[in-house]
Amino acid sequence: MNSPWWREAVTYQIYPRSFADADGDGTGDLAGITSRLDYLADLGVDAIWLSPFYPSPQYDYGYDVSDARDVDPVFGTLEDAEALLKEAHELGLKVIIDLIPNHTSSSHPWFIDALAAGPGSPERDRYLFRDGRGPNGDEPPTNWRSVFGQPAWTRVSDGQWYLHMFDREEPDLNWRHPEVIEEFRSVLRWWLDRGVDGFRVDVAHGLVKALRDQRVPEGGEPNSDPAVMYEIGVDDDPMWDHPDVHEIYRDWHKVVSSYPGERMLIAEAWTRAPGDLRGYLRADEFEQAFNFRWLQSHWSAREFTDAIVSTLEALNPSRAWPTWVLSNHDAMRHRTRYGDGAQALARARAATLMMLALPGAAYLYQGEELGLPHVQLPPEHQLDPWAEGGNGRDGCRVPLPWSGEAPPFGFGPGDGQPWLPQPYQWADLTVAAQTGRPGSTLEFYRSALAARRRYAHGDKEVKFLDVPKDVIAFRRGRLTVVINCGATPTPLPRGDVLICSGEPLASELPPDTAAWLLSDE
Ligand code: GLC
Repeated sequence: MNSPWWREAVTYQIYPRSFADADGDGTGDLAGITSRLDYLADLGVDAIWLSPFYPSPQYDYGYDVSDARDVDPVFGTLEDAEALLKEAHELGLKVIIDLIPNHTSSSHPWFIDALAAGPGSPERDRYLFRDGRGPNGDEPPTNWRSVFGQPAWTRVSDGQWYLHMFDREEPDLNWRHPEVIEEFRSVLRWWLDRGVDGFRVDVAHGLVKALRDQRVPEGGEPNSDPAVMYEIGVDDDPMWDHPDVHEIYRDWHKVVSSYPGERMLIAEAWTRAPGDLRGYLRADEFEQAFNFRWLQSHWSAREFTDAIVSTLEALNPSRAWPTWVLSNHDAMRHRTRYGDGAQALARARAATLMMLALPGAAYLYQGEELGLPHVQLPPEHQLDPWAEGGNGRDGCRVPLPWSGEAPPFGFGPGDGQPWLPQPYQWADLTVAAQTGRPGSTLEFYRSALAARRRYAHGDKEVKFLDVPKDVIAFRRGRLTVVINCGATPTPLPRGDVLICSGEPLASELPPDTAAWLLSDE
């Protein structure tokens, strides 16, 4: 691995509920993950990122944390976490864990104390409690909506309101409070002492707010999605990207870099343009920030080119290297974003191959290496509190199929069914069914990751080639990378084909396909 390890690493995101279930209760757990780490080492990734496994009432599936220094019994014990870390390190895998500083669970002892202590108490001051507006205080303190679409303020029985930018069971912390600041320093140290290599910082752009109304045009509605506001011509997000968040990360950087080894911080910061990420990537803040441009793009050469060019341009003058991601636990799987059936799978593989050639780090989401589609679950299985139009994030969180002909497909021992139902059609997509099968998506990912390790690193520069519309081609070092987003075959550039996302080819690249070629110059 190059130094520092994270710069061009491939990190595999594990959603612990849905990866592997060792104890057979239908929910994935840490022991299940440990038992499958050799699969990930063999796949060829460099690191894993674990979504939260801390004690939590699971309203937001673990992003509502009630104790950041322990493991929820549903996922196992602290000893299981330590065993996982040890085993991963023995296999040469780095481990990144999720850190959730914007809010706690409503079951966190601090919030329970805050409710009991009442208005004006020091306990309330760790959160964002305010009196309401209007003659009886029954109007919320600001006009904000939460990310999940509800009002962002909830009123408690004594009449005060508390802010929650996500679920009402996820009260936002007051990041101007010294105890909050000290608590998170201590949580970082707690896990650094146990050997974690990095933290993925949840909602990094949201910790400090300007508590005032969001400006909306006449007749318009407030919205916490800056993209929606932008469309209606409003550039006012008092809840996001406050300049004072950076002080927090400068402080964390000192903590993290005081540890031996190359420990790191990666920001989940939803900024409007990739250039806005630069602030988070200053030398004394985050090592990396997620760049969601590609994850937000449809199958389109124009959109992909925009995503690549704007990212490279935005980061070029800085020391930072980009990151790339196509799928995660919050988004529709990229296979399904690109359409239906075999064509969508071909496109997903092609996009992955192009992404893996770009300079910087790549993040994969569990199951994409199997070509899993986003599942349209029946209403009784849509459990996500963020259920946009009855279609929440559950569809990308269906437990992985490992082996066998019928659910639970080896997810857990025996026949017990997992917490979300797996489609019967997944019999053909299990790890066992795809292992060793020529042309399977799993074998394609293995080959692509091996080829990346060998040929796609070091160079930060990307040179675009002149190619027909609907095709993108670029050179990076000795590698030429081409993707055909159009409807007709396109001539292949010069070079020897190293890997192709679809059918083997002679001198042309079919639609919905990407290839890497190697040339001497
Ligand atoms: C982040 C997480 C998401 C969670 C939210 C609140 O966006 O990725 O899953 O619901 O933060 O913590």
